[in-house]
Amino acid sequence: MPSAWNPTQYDRFRDERSQPFFDLLGLVQPIPGGRAIDLGCGTGELTKVLHERVQARATIGLDNSETMLERSHEFAGNGLSFKLGTIVRFAPRKPFDLVFSNAAVQWAPDHAGLFPRLVAGLADGGQLAVQMPANHDYPSHIVAHEVAGEEPFRAELAGYTRQVPVQAPEWYASLLDGLGMREQHVRLQVYGHHLASRGDVVEWVKGTVLTDYQQRMRPEVFAAYLARYRERLLPLLAEAKPYFYPFKRILIWAKK
Ligand SMILES: C[S@@+](CC[C@H](N)C(=O)[O-])C[C@H]1O[C@@H](n2cnc3c(N)ncnc32)[C@H](O)[C@@H]1O
Repeated sequence: MPSAWNPTQYDRFRDERSQPFFDLLGLVQPIPGGRAIDLGCGTGELTKVLHERVQARATIGLDNSETMLERSHEFAGNGLSFKLGTIVRFAPRKPFDLVFSNAAVQWAPDHAGLFPRLVAGLADGGQLAVQMPANHDYPSHIVAHEVAGEEPFRAELAGYTRQVPVQAPEWYASLLDGLGMREQHVRLQVYGHHLASRGDVVEWVKGTVLTDYQQRMRPEVFAAYLARYRERLLPLLAEAKPYFYPFKRILIWAKK
């Protein structure tokens, strides 16, 4: 299946999308001379910031989208490298001092299975730092799911329904404690975004959650899906300019 991730669309809200990365990075303790991995690294631009900030000797940026990784070679070097691969099969032979992931694990199913593997990939004293959106109960996300259930989109998706694997913050806190993490900081944070108008909410989700449907639909069917999505979503959002888009995210940091 071709990936619908598009760095240009994703970067349209670059500042808003990078703030949680910096908040997550702020929780991480430096690992001078250590090894780090950035799961779902995207273009690699922020992985370079991560690599330098934590003073790692070696950092791997891993992503399963060739399009997102296209420019990553520009950021590689000085111990930073990139590779194509999936979070879903993360099981390193050599443990990392830092397993970091910003806005990516929401694409991996079964967090009850995934998080123990992330922790297993950590050396003693290693840190796990994960940020994931938790906005699936906002109209922008609910309507995306509902329209996917309407015809002709339902037939086009041939039985596919998007399952959101993201759990409540306290679920992650309990899981990490049960996995023996010695310290942790888990929080839900609301990021308030001032978008030019409510129409920009569509542009926002086009760069992320809608890519899941885009890659499963023929272009003309996805165009019809987008039109229907817009028609159903916009009346549910206030007409204010700017439009205030509250976006919830879970930030997780824990030390083994
Ligand atoms: C919202 S972007 C975040 C990119 C980057 N971490 C950042 O902070 O800008 C999500 C990234 O996760 C990647 N991704 C999604 N599912 C993945 C998987 N199963 N394995 C690896 N990468 C994945 C996508 O290709 C995309 O680059």
